[in-house]
Amino acid sequence: MDNENKEKRGQWGSKIGFILAAAGSAVGLGNLWKFPYITYKYEGGAFVMVYLLAILLIGLPLMIAELLVGKKMKKNPVGAFKGMEASPDSALPSKRSEKSMFLPWRIVGWMGVAAGFIILSYYSVVAGWTLEYTFKAVRGEFNIVYLNAKKEIDTISQNKNSKKFLELKKQYAPKLEGKEENEKMVNSLASKKMSKIFGSKFLANPWKQIGFHFIFMFLTSFVIIGGISGGIEKCTKILMPCLFVIMILLLGTSMMTGAFMETIRFLFTWKLSSLTSHSILEALGHAFFTLSLGMGAILTYGSYLNKKTDLVKSAIIITVLDTCIAFIACLILFPIIFHYNLQPESGGLGILFTTLPIIFNQMFMGHYVSILFFMLLSFAALTSTISLMEVVVSYIVDEWKITRKIATITSGLIIFVFGIPSALCNGANDFFTKITIFSNGGEKLNWLDSFDYLATNWLLPLGGFFIAICVGWYLTDEERLSEFILVDGNSIIYKSFKFLIRFVSPVLVGIIILNKIGVF
Ligand code: TRP
Repeated sequence: MDNENKEKRGQWGSKIGFILAAAGSAVGLGNLWKFPYITYKYEGGAFVMVYLLAILLIGLPLMIAELLVGKKMKKNPVGAFKGMEASPDSALPSKRSEKSMFLPWRIVGWMGVAAGFIILSYYSVVAGWTLEYTFKAVRGEFNIVYLNAKKEIDTISQNKNSKKFLELKKQYAPKLEGKEENEKMVNSLASKKMSKIFGSKFLANPWKQIGFHFIFMFLTSFVIIGGISGGIEKCTKILMPCLFVIMILLLGTSMMTGAFMETIRFLFTWKLSSLTSHSILEALGHAFFTLSLGMGAILTYGSYLNKKTDLVKSAIIITVLDTCIAFIACLILFPIIFHYNLQPESGGLGILFTTLPIIFNQMFMGHYVSILFFMLLSFAALTSTISLMEVVVSYIVDEWKITRKIATITSGLIIFVFGIPSALCNGANDFFTKITIFSNGGEKLNWLDSFDYLATNWLLPLGGFFIAICVGWYLTDEERLSEFILVDGNSIIYKSFKFLIRFVSPVLVGIIILNKIGVF
């Protein structure tokens, strides 16, 4: 059976290949961009602690649960959950077919495929930005912007009594003198120029927006067409080690800025007073997103595992890798933010595309630092988009019996088209910029933010909740245990898993959902 399956559906070529692919799915813009951003926003320490608890109590058990369902059913999320339904052709070994009760588990699978489709459509747009910035870095564009700003400030500074100089000083460096004053003014002006370039030249340029979105979808599809071991595994086996090396290099340069200890203190001093219900919810929600849980991405990767793989060990390695990389991202970004006294909250997520390129430019080997940084983002994004697309493609291949190639090309095109409004909604097109679909707590969301909101706030937690219920309550001990290696029903590992997946995870996720509905 395993051999036949291998030919039909594909299988990972090696254990390390699977681990790297799954870690590649988990490690993405969520780690390198969103985690540092929300950690800064919610003032580090206490938020970090809640996040770690969420990873441990929800993330890890759910990761094991998804891998378990995938490994057991050897199908895409829809097929896997369909096979669980109590019907005459239930795929479960025990006597489910005799039960008359109909449980529409397949809805969980559909929700997952829909979430994959939706997330990919906008994730690819943002991933496209990182690609464009890699090219910008290679071309040395940040340096040109910086030099222009420097020239401008130097000219203005020749007359320190001029109205223009006094105005700029008041705006950018009211309390500084001498060299510091000059530096701060140059940096601020250069960042402002970068914001303008980002906003009015890049985000507002429909062809660039659509073009880079297309390139990213193309790259993703290209890898997916190659199949499991020939495409996904091969690609992540190259990209992930590159990603680790780049991170270590960047960490080194960042440590040299001198604000490293301040960063450690920021991350690990627990100021409980800064915790709010909002930050707790954000930590829980992000735990899903960062580990790629709740929509069957990990489940799908689990479906290509062979019988012998240890679920618990794999889940622990993937989770630990993902968490470490999120922290290293903070250790890279925060020292720069602290040292150069930047204010990320004012630029929101934009800091990555506005202020940071200017700062990188002044660091040791700055040109290379910025190239490496944006390459890092692109690599991380690509290994994540691959996993999102694999969910959609595996569904089409398994359920509709269409070849992988045709499934990939058609779904790639459809997702690309569905993502076009996301590419145009930040100023490139009036119509799509003005459209709001959802609002979050009174704030009107544009197309991109709306679908992000729908998927990460609703579909992932709901999916996670039902996966926990399915594995924790619907499956029997025997059905669960058959997928574990060297673990029996009395072992502490199994017992803790069962307790977490039955009680802790669904209750915590249930709280998130109820809170979102507005029950409390
Ligand atoms: N985990 C990725 C990140 O942190 C994003 C991602 C990839 C994802 N696949 C997913 C999120 C599946 C949710 C579900 O950026």
